[in-house]
Amino acid sequence: MKALIVYYSETGNTKKLAQLVGEHLHKEGWAVDERRLQATGEAKSFFGKCLRAFFRFKTKVESTFVVVSPYDLVCFGSPVWAFGPAPAMNTYLDECVGLMGKKVLVFVTYGSGAGKDHCLRKMAGIIKKKEARKVMRLSIAGADISKIEMVQAEIKKALE
Ligand SMILES: Cc1cc2nc3c(=O)[nH]c(=O)nc-3n(C[C@H](O)[C@H](O)[C@H](O)COP(=O)(O)O)c2cc1C
Repeated sequence: MKALIVYYSETGNTKKLAQLVGEHLHKEGWAVDERRLQATGEAKSFFGKCLRAFFRFKTKVESTFVVVSPYDLVCFGSPVWAFGPAPAMNTYLDECVGLMGKKVLVFVTYGSGAGKDHCLRKMAGIIKKKEARKVMRLSIAGADISKIEMVQAEIKKALE
């Protein structure tokens, strides 16, 4: 069974969560590929980033792994930016193909928690339109990412 984890992370919280999801799957016997999205032309300022995320600006993503059909499980991770996913994740979700019939995990890390459920709903909505079979959800506060046992328990629960 093969799993793909695609994530965007600017300050490392979502990267850490992606790694923990990967470790969990690996222990369960999955072959795991991890890909970190690089944002081309992302705004430098906090306000600029919020604006781009809120109005769903696009960014360039690597086109070499947008075809996810070889995987049985596909996991998408993003920080919450202005109540939604970061632009790189929005772009990737729009461009990725081959989700029909797949099991999917969407995961986010967040600060205050404002908009985290909205962000998960948005990601899940795009994925469901691409006819995924099942969409599971996971959210962890950035401030809690080093509470490894708690995070591991949440990952296990989300993937049940
Ligand atoms: C531009 C920007 C917008 C953000 N907007 C939100 C938000 O709407 N709600 C929230 O709870 N956290 C928000 N945050 C906090 C991030 O979601 C949080 O710090 C996250 O863990 C960062 O993940 P990363 O380290 O993988 O980049 C925002 C952070 C940035 C930089």
